[in-house]
Amino acid sequence: MLAVLALCIPALPVFAATPDEGKDLCPVVPRPLQYKQTGGAPFHLTAKTTIAADEALRPQAEWLSEALAAPTGWDLAVRTGTKGQIVLTIDTLAAPKPESYQLHVDRKGVTVKAHDAAGAFYALQTLLQSLPAQVHGTQRCANDLWQIPAFEASDAPAHPWRGLMLDAARYYYDKAFIKKCIDMMAMYKLNKFQFHFIDDCGWRLESKKYPRLTEVGAWAGSNEQRTGGFYTQNDIREIVAYASVRGVEVIPEIEFPAHVLSAIVAYPWLSCTGVQHQVPEQHFISRDLLCPGNPKAMQFLRDILEETIELFPSKYINIGGDEAVYTRWEQCPKCRALMQREGFTKASELQGWITNQVALWMQEKGRTVMGWEEIVMRGKVATPVVAVMWHEPKDTAEVVKEGHQAVIASCYYNYFDFPESSTPGEPQHARWCPPISLSKVYATPLSDYSPASSILGVQACLWSDQFIHGRALQELAVLNENRSEQYVEYFVYPRLIALAEVGWTPARLRHYDDFLRRLAPQYARLDAKGCNYRVPEPAIISLEEKGGRFTYTLAPTVEGADIRYTTDGTYPTVHSPRYTGPVTVDRKSDFLAIQVVTPTHYSLPLLTPPDYSAYKAYGQLTAQWQPLTVQPNLSPWRFECTGKVSGNGPYTLTFIPQRGTNALHLESLTLKKRDEVIATATPQRNADGTTTYHFTVSNFEAGTPFYIEVQACGEGGNDTSGLVFLQKE
Ligand code: ACM
Ligand code: ZN
Repeated sequence: MLAVLALCIPALPVFAATPDEGKDLCPVVPRPLQYKQTGGAPFHLTAKTTIAADEALRPQAEWLSEALAAPTGWDLAVRTGTKGQIVLTIDTLAAPKPESYQLHVDRKGVTVKAHDAAGAFYALQTLLQSLPAQVHGTQRCANDLWQIPAFEASDAPAHPWRGLMLDAARYYYDKAFIKKCIDMMAMYKLNKFQFHFIDDCGWRLESKKYPRLTEVGAWAGSNEQRTGGFYTQNDIREIVAYASVRGVEVIPEIEFPAHVLSAIVAYPWLSCTGVQHQVPEQHFISRDLLCPGNPKAMQFLRDILEETIELFPSKYINIGGDEAVYTRWEQCPKCRALMQREGFTKASELQGWITNQVALWMQEKGRTVMGWEEIVMRGKVATPVVAVMWHEPKDTAEVVKEGHQAVIASCYYNYFDFPESSTPGEPQHARWCPPISLSKVYATPLSDYSPASSILGVQACLWSDQFIHGRALQELAVLNENRSEQYVEYFVYPRLIALAEVGWTPARLRHYDDFLRRLAPQYARLDAKGCNYRVPEPAIISLEEKGGRFTYTLAPTVEGADIRYTTDGTYPTVHSPRYTGPVTVDRKSDFLAIQVVTPTHYSLPLLTPPDYSAYKAYGQLTAQWQPLTVQPNLSPWRFECTGKVSGNGPYTLTFIPQRGTNALHLESLTLKKRDEVIATATPQRNADGTTTYHFTVSNFEAGTPFYIEVQACGEGGNDTSGLVFLQKE
């Protein structure tokens, strides 16, 4: 194996143990290119340890001293130069690639040779991950804890783009949370933060030239009921500076032509119709667009972009560009005149026209335009741009043929507002794509379709529209004002750590089992950081069938966690029997197990999902009824069908009884889009005991919740249970 590696990377000394060698002690995530414990005496950090750095690396040296201050209780001296026990230098011979570093630790001290400030910062992150988890915390620990085993590492990222997009428009996260996000990204060597702070529901970037954007556009509701917020220009400068020390580029996303209702509310003349709207209080995707036929609206765009680039030194400026529906442009005399002048036959070509203009303006200022994949799919864009591919990674092939670059941020692999599993108990989440498990994130196809140089890397997206809204949050605030932030962290971790490794570590060194081994001790680091995460289920090491019985052998996936289980098909609790060895059950569905980190932080159950393949012809399982949900008198029973109602057209809903001697009696049905009734139906009782309803959806809206309500009761008792399926015809 070593020989093979040496052949692949002849320029580098090969001392990395490969995962299958059995003595690989690398604890670091993302996996460094090369990491070896050298077996000598460890380095002891003491109150006298001095950090010395090249002038250019002084911010990183000071960052280290600050990071160590709380857990050690020491104020380690930082000096310029090379006299110290921890020495940081720029050395582009030792570290030839951007963001790369070499790290050497022995009894005498720590030496970092970095290509640049980011490389030095990443060396320090590798160093911290080689110290106990408490190093990330704020509690002072015993002095003898601070030993670093002797090791050497040589490391560089496989991809220059390792990103996270946070939707701070649908929900306003305060500055402290934005900084925490950046800090967590930096811990795992992520380097691009796409700040999605403009959308229909809120404009959150202060503008001096257009003050109504935040005076009006940042707030939903009125008076004391109003919710929202915005980032002042000083907030932005502070966030950008904070990120810069940590190697993170903050990329503003100025969304247009769609998703800008908040700006149109502030300045109605920006849209084709000029109609005065209100900032929506619930998730809403507006059909109103910025009017490119109006020179004043184009001037607004230019002014805002110019003000934005003064605040953000980033190489990239993101211009959004997703999900525009062009009916307003088709109906607008000014837009039609512009189309005629430019010789366009389709209104969508106007989007390409604006993109071309903006790309040129930004090129003149030395910036590169990027945006969602639509920016290169609505007419030819002459200036090279970067497209964020939010659907199919394979579509990158077309994009790069046109001379553009791409970042993979696929809704099938990298959208963290989808849950990790379909196990009941996941918090409210987006539903228009299937769940995205940790292993799915790790399998993101990154360079399979196009030359690696055209695919800059990978990015996670955390949309806030499906599970957080101003109104709901205000109601929750009394209970727990950090609840939304904790929601976000539940969705983001540990998946962001998997994404970080996809972006950083070359595919040949990425092995999921090895990743899980290094991930298990990371949870204690997240705990020390005060960062919430989704506790993973325990792992099944083996499942053996013998004489019709099933024996489960499990292992924890979080270092130090307990496993609790049941053998009667019920959900385990933290008080259920503790797993100490293999467990045998009659039916797989009888065995459920949870992983317990603390009595209040534990996983959803590991379970064998029931097999519904026999009901495939009835569509998707949408609800289940149980004796407890069946009422004696006709009463409404409401269940959600978001995601199962997936477009306009006819649908069939089928109730299939499974157990019980009493029947479920069903009467009228209503289908609701949020609170609005959009269809009704009456039941048809079938000879086989099933009941069906037929209805048609004609004003479907993506991203909106749908509910079915039926009038139901038990006939002569409530011992009935069964399944409800929905089929789009
Ligand atoms: C997107 O999810 N609309 C980019
Ligand atoms: Zn117009």
